[in-house]
Order: sequence, then C-alpha cells, then structure tokens
Amino acid sequence: MADTKKLYIKTYGCQMNVYDSERMAEAMGGAGYETTESPDDADMILLNTCHIREKAAEKVYSELGRFKGLKAEKPDLKIGVAGCVAQAEGEEIMRRQPMVDLVVGPQAYHRLPEMEAKTQGGEKALDTDFPEEDKFERLKSRPKAKRGPTAFLTVQEGCDKFCAFCVVPYTRGAEVSRPVDRILTEARDLVERGVREITLLGQNVNAYHGAGPKGDMTLAGLIWELDKVDGLERIRFTTSHPNDMMDDLIEAHGTCGKLMPYLHLPVQSGSNKILKRMNRSHDRDSYLRLVERIRAARPDILLSGDFIVGFPEETEADFQDTMDLIEEVKYGQAFSFKYSARPGTPAAERPLVDDAEASDRLYRLQALITRQQRAIQDSMVGREVSVLFERPGRLAGQMVGKSEYLHAVHVADCDARTGDLARVRIVESGANSLAGILVDH
Ligand code: 5AD
Ligand code: SF4
Repeated sequence: MADTKKLYIKTYGCQMNVYDSERMAEAMGGAGYETTESPDDADMILLNTCHIREKAAEKVYSELGRFKGLKAEKPDLKIGVAGCVAQAEGEEIMRRQPMVDLVVGPQAYHRLPEMEAKTQGGEKALDTDFPEEDKFERLKSRPKAKRGPTAFLTVQEGCDKFCAFCVVPYTRGAEVSRPVDRILTEARDLVERGVREITLLGQNVNAYHGAGPKGDMTLAGLIWELDKVDGLERIRFTTSHPNDMMDDLIEAHGTCGKLMPYLHLPVQSGSNKILKRMNRSHDRDSYLRLVERIRAARPDILLSGDFIVGFPEETEADFQDTMDLIEEVKYGQAFSFKYSARPGTPAAERPLVDDAEASDRLYRLQALITRQQRAIQDSMVGREVSVLFERPGRLAGQMVGKSEYLHAVHVADCDARTGDLARVRIVESGANSLAGILVDH
C-alpha cells in the first residue's frame, strides 16, 4: 500500500467553513490522506478561506506568501485554496500566486480527490462551479471514529437576501436546503460516535425548507425531528435572519426542551435609514417587536447579534440609533465589524465614512457590548445551569464546558468526564468565563 500522505488544512471565517474543512478532510481520507497539525510535514496544504471582509481575503494572500519557502524546498507539495475567496477570485489566485496548484469553490468540494489526482500529474485544477449534484452525498460519509461531544451539521447553504454589503449570495449561491432524512442520518451517526450537542448551520438557517416525508419542512419541523433522536441532548442553530423567524420556530424556543436558550439574530444597524440602504427588508421596530415575541416564548433566552459600523453615509445620529437599540435589547454576545467595501456588492458604489470616524464608532460600540456581556455573565453568579463538559481544563482536576447559554464554565476538583452533562452552580464570573461547582454530585 502506498504511504499515507499528510494534509494540512487551515480554516478561516465562519463555522460553516469548520464543517466544510472536516468534510474535505474526510473526502481526502479516501484519497490516502490523513490530517496533520503542521504545514511543515504536509504533502498538501489547503486554505479554507473567507471573503466576507477585505482583511479576511488579504490574509489568504499573505499566508500563501509564507508557504513559498516550503514549496521551494519540497516541489511535490500541493497547495490548494478552498472556500469563498476561491469562489470569488478563481483563476486570479493562480495569477497572483502561481505556486497554487488547486482552487476549489465551496460547492465543488466533493470533486477534491479528482482534482488532487490531476495536480499529481503536474496540472493545475480549478473548479468553482455550482453543480446540480448534492455535494454532501458525494462527500464520503464520516468515518466511525469517536468524536467530541459537540458537532456542527450544515443543513442549509447560500442566501437569497442580497444585503447590500454582503458577498455571501455571490460566493455561496442561492439558498439550498438538505433533505430531512439525510440530516437525521448524519445526526444519528454523530450521536453514535459520542456527540451530544449539534449546532445546525446555514448562512440563513431559519430559511430552511428541506424535503421531508410529507413535503417541505421548516427549521422548527427539523428541530422537532431531531428532538426525537435518543442520545442527542442539545440542539442549536445559527445564523438566523430576522425575517425568517417564523411562529413555529419562536414557539419551539418555549416548548422544545433540547433547543438551547441562545439565539444569534443579527440586526446590523439600529437606524431605519441605514437598514433600508443595507436592503435588510426589516426595520428597527419590527426587529424590536420580534425580540419581544421571542422573549415572551423563552424569557431567559440569551441573544447575540452582528453589527456593522461605518456603512456608507452612516451619520453620528444613525450610529446613535444602533447604540440605542443595543441598550434596549441587551445582548449577551455580539460581533461587530467596521464596514468593508466588497467589490461587486451594491454598497461598494456608495461614499465611505471617514475611516478614523468608523474606527471610533466601532470602539464605542464594542465598549457598550462588552459592558452588556459582562453584566449578563455576572448575573449568572448564584444561578444553576447545565454544563456539557468538553475537555479537561489547564489546572489538575478542572473540567471545562458550556452552559445552555453558551458561556464557558470551569469547574475545579471535578470528577465529571468529557461528554457528561451536569448541573452546576455558578460561583464566580471572570473576564471570559464562569466558574462553578457541581450540584448534587
Ligand atoms: N463589511 C463588514 N462586515 C460585514 N459582514 C458581512 N459583510 C460585511 C462587510 N462587507 C458582517 C455582518 C454579517 C457577519 C457575518 O459579517 O455583520 O452578519
Ligand atoms: Fe449576507 Fe445578508 Fe445573506 Fe446574511 S442575510 S448572508 S448578511 S446577504
């Protein structure tokens, strides 16, 4: 048998890329590759890239530059670029970095082994098609190896919303949902291998409408199917669009015991003028009313959000509207970004806000979010939460896991094992995590 080759994958960007990287590693397993943690002993280096902001895309080129030396030492080394930069830039990548052997877009991963074979013959391989076939079915099923207690599972891809700033509809294509039975099979397989919490992924996950036994099923329908899977204890999903928060999904937050009380619900801005220009098709009030309805269904739900500051023509008053909305909602977690003009998107044509001004707004917004996050985290002290333990901590006898609200929780002198779910009383709130003690143990 030929020697196993080594594959080094570096993943940038969102959780969907983390999932895709796992699946690519599995597909390449069938072509005789095993993964390695170090690029130095790799036979193939694959960068799974993100194109969402300019900085993310530029990182790819600087990383490729760093591999030049390795390639000079080891001419047989294959270098590939996958993900959204691959989709958006295609051949341009090989022009800028001629040492790149392979460029594969997010919809063509299942063709990776054939492409690798082509590069072994000294050819370059490029595939950024949106093929008809289901890449998930063509990708090898996951090997039966044991795995950690949490996993991602992609159920939906692509986006039809066309927010004026966003490249996703171009790089990931139109909304596509996977059929219910395939998702259930994958979920059961994950559970057999030790997984107790699954996070359903989609660029617009709550727009899910996969084929079920009696016609299309909504995300809530899928969650109720997963609720029946024995051994699966926790269900999460991300990322949602406010306009797709349907009644059945809001209700499931109040009635489905396995659905965790955490919801990532990006609003991007609190200014109606900016929301309109962003083509978000919801306004400030409809978002706030939605939050009210979700909290009525599940009062303890922890909300997280995404914000863009410095969108073209955002004034200080528009920014203050965003700050007011944040004050009103009280987020437990948030991700905030300075607007980055992406070529080909409508917003890229509009006049930019002064960069120093945008940076200052980002600074002020992050300070507010940090205060809110910290207040919510501190309010956990004295409360009992459930923790799914993911790994031992750095100190002897310590275990680390996540609460239902996705807070990291450390427990000292803990006899729980990885994969255990336990009740924990929170005793302390630190900078980025909570400390607790086991209850009734
Ligand atoms: N500039 C800045 N932030 C962006 N995002 C998406 N596109 C851009 C852009 N051009 C942010 C949005 C989105 C998150 C994933 O990234 O907040 O929700
Ligand atoms: Fe991008 Fe908007 Fe689609 Fe989210 S909803 S992926 S921000 S276009």
